[in-house]
Amino acid sequence: MDYQALLDEVVDAVQPHMGHGRAAQYIPALASVDVDRFGMAVADVDGEVAGVGDWQVPFSVQSVSKVFSLALVLARDGEDIWRRVGREPSGNPFNSLVQLEYENGIPRNPFINAGALVITDRLLSLTEDPSGTVLEFLREESGNRSVAIDEEVAASETAHGDRNAALAHFMASYGNFDNPVPTVLDHYSRQCSIAMSCRDLALAGGFLARHGLRADGTRLLAGREAKRVNAVMLTCGTYDAAGDFAYRVGLPGKSGVGGGIIAVVPGRCTVCVWSPGLDARGNSVAGTAALDAFTTLTGWSVF
Ligand code: DON
Repeated sequence: MDYQALLDEVVDAVQPHMGHGRAAQYIPALASVDVDRFGMAVADVDGEVAGVGDWQVPFSVQSVSKVFSLALVLARDGEDIWRRVGREPSGNPFNSLVQLEYENGIPRNPFINAGALVITDRLLSLTEDPSGTVLEFLREESGNRSVAIDEEVAASETAHGDRNAALAHFMASYGNFDNPVPTVLDHYSRQCSIAMSCRDLALAGGFLARHGLRADGTRLLAGREAKRVNAVMLTCGTYDAAGDFAYRVGLPGKSGVGGGIIAVVPGRCTVCVWSPGLDARGNSVAGTAALDAFTTLTGWSVF
């Protein structure tokens, strides 16, 4: 497959969507990012990467980081985590509070904010430094030691994190939190504030296309666990738009409000696209259109 030619075709197909949507407004440090940016990278299972546009420009990974924190907990803890967090789509916005009370403080899945906070709480118990553990993993898998936390974004998130604090305290009231809420919130904000490029993220997500094998050939996850992470990405990775994402793209995918999305073609490649203009549900407009074009042109939807 000539990935470079394919990416050029994708860019042509996406032109009508470029610049559409709005950058995330509720985290002020993200609100000023230029919505005309667009980058896309494909990393095959052997670690060969091709890219187009702003594919080497670092952006705020935000919720894309939740795939990695989940994988790092599963790698250490196995299936135990599913007693504290579900794996069903929520049908609600990523920062919604309502479902948590009906469901006794057990979040629907690890990719909505409540579920990701439980994962960070568990990774804190397991490693003492969850954001540092995620960062180190991303550096190792991307081969880029300069991947770092954007301190301005982290401070902005912490200053405007009342909703996440509410979710965390609410779960703590149900006993679904082991560590002090402020410590978990701090690590969660820092993990979301990691800045890296499409190139780096496509490489870092390679284990999901390699059935659990890391870039150096060692095993992070058993094949069946990698399959399960991909399944949760497919059903829950784009929140209340997961059905539409499956309909249009048909791949396991995980979005973030920085405008990034990673998507996995198991056994073949990992794709990362970035464009900061978001739709009403917090997913990149041009990014989703690009992945739609990608699977339409290649026929690589899992369906
Ligand atoms: O907690 C938040 O709201 C952000 N740090 C991450 C949210 C996010 O990326 C949701 N994705 N679409």
